Amino acid sequence: MEHTETLRALGLFDARVPRYTSYPTAAAFSPDTGASFQRHALEQLDPSEPVSVYMHIPFCERLCWFCACHTQGTKTLGPVESYIEALEAELEMVRAIIPNGLKMGRLHWGGGTPTILPPELIHRLSESIRRVFPPAQEFEFSVEIDPTMVDRAKIEALASEGMNRASIGIQDFDPEVQKAIGRLQPFETTRACVEDLRAAGIASLNTDLVYGLPHQSLARIEDTIEKVLTFTPDRVALFGYAHVPWVSKRQKLIDEAALPDDLSRYHLATRAGELFVAAGLTAIGIDHFARPDDTLTASLEAGRLRRNFQGYTTDTCSTLIGLGASSISRFSEGYVQNAPATAAYQQRIATGVFPSARGYQLSPEDQLRARAIEELMCRFAVDLDDLSQEFGTDAQKLLPCLTEMATRFAPFARLTGKRIAIAPEGRPLTRMIASVFDQHVPEGVRYSRAS
Ligand SMILES: C[S@@+](CC[C@H](N)C(=O)[O-])C[C@H]1O[C@@H](n2cnc3c(N)ncnc32)[C@H](O)[C@@H]1O
Ligand code: SF4
Repeated sequence: MEHTETLRALGLFDARVPRYTSYPTAAAFSPDTGASFQRHALEQLDPSEPVSVYMHIPFCERLCWFCACHTQGTKTLGPVESYIEALEAELEMVRAIIPNGLKMGRLHWGGGTPTILPPELIHRLSESIRRVFPPAQEFEFSVEIDPTMVDRAKIEALASEGMNRASIGIQDFDPEVQKAIGRLQPFETTRACVEDLRAAGIASLNTDLVYGLPHQSLARIEDTIEKVLTFTPDRVALFGYAHVPWVSKRQKLIDEAALPDDLSRYHLATRAGELFVAAGLTAIGIDHFARPDDTLTASLEAGRLRRNFQGYTTDTCSTLIGLGASSISRFSEGYVQNAPATAAYQQRIATGVFPSARGYQLSPEDQLRARAIEELMCRFAVDLDDLSQEFGTDAQKLLPCLTEMATRFAPFARLTGKRIAIAPEGRPLTRMIASVFDQHVPEGVRYSRAS
């Protein structure tokens, strides 16, 4: 209780800050950085360093009201097929530029719902990707799976193409919550999907849950978690519901009066975290949990945990090539995002033009701040002496930020020499504290809540 009041006094329940899956965030991207930047960055890639590839499938058969992802509804496969053709054309454009011999260390299919693809399209798309990016010896292929939009044949097709990590959307199992977010998903359907994934040899299973949904209560989230734990997930992502109806128009269907208030939201997150830790999972960063034998836990313990657009990851590739509508590529020099709207993306491809719409070129200082934010989000601490190993004396520029954090966020942010650390009770403030490093909070952009 005492902590809650201090957190409230520090502004936790009023703050609106980015999730820092990148720095700067996409809100700072500009149309001045686009195709020519991307072309140059692709040409300069070192063929001896494997890259990560992200493929976006912006289609769903049902559109859940709570969802803030770039996607659109379709009841037929026609639009999906023509989109796959566009993806193949984009792959060919990339192939013409990248150096020979470049390998792919990671592949992630996200969406939307990649499992809207029938087995033939799964095989076709996988082959098209491998032609351009042959997998490296150590290769990880993960896919976002909607348990209500998948069957055994699709899972077997994905497994035969090398999928070794699956991420299933659950959100909440309570029927009233499901009704309020426009997403009906019976427990039995989800269990059958988990069984099919395990039978197909998928060793690593992640489950996505969301707290802060309409009508969610402590009893309901406890029941959801009890059910989720029967799947023995290797990882759990517990996202705070981002209610951003000005971005995601379908969220206007959500009854705002049924959303838990600030304090209830905080208690939901805290209780969920306690239950996962009590079940033997390790807390990873601000919103993930993983089994002690999972590579995410090993990565945390070895100080190699990273944060990227998908959240916490073991991925240490310095380049991410994003393909498809709205996808973001990350190069050591900066970011480029493809046209977000599927029609605009396809139109750019049809005219033979790179579909990049906007981006951001990182200055050396941005790179330093990006690393500092990532450190704080992953380890709840930043040590300027550690940062100076990579950034030299420039790292010392951040000392005033550390001092500001210690003053503004006392008693939770503690400065010792040139190291700032967030106390466990202050971890809900992490995004707010990280924002002290942020020099690119654009005017007029509205973020989701910090808590
Ligand atoms: C891109 S979606 C893909 C999920 C997949 N199509 C499904 O329905 O199972 C990935 C995850 O993002 C999370 N997500 C989507 N909208 C969100 C929001 N408004 N706030 C918090 N998390 C959200 C959900 O947990 C969801 O499972
Ligand atoms: S949660 Fe999944 S199925 Fe629902 S709209 Fe979002 S991407 Fe589509």
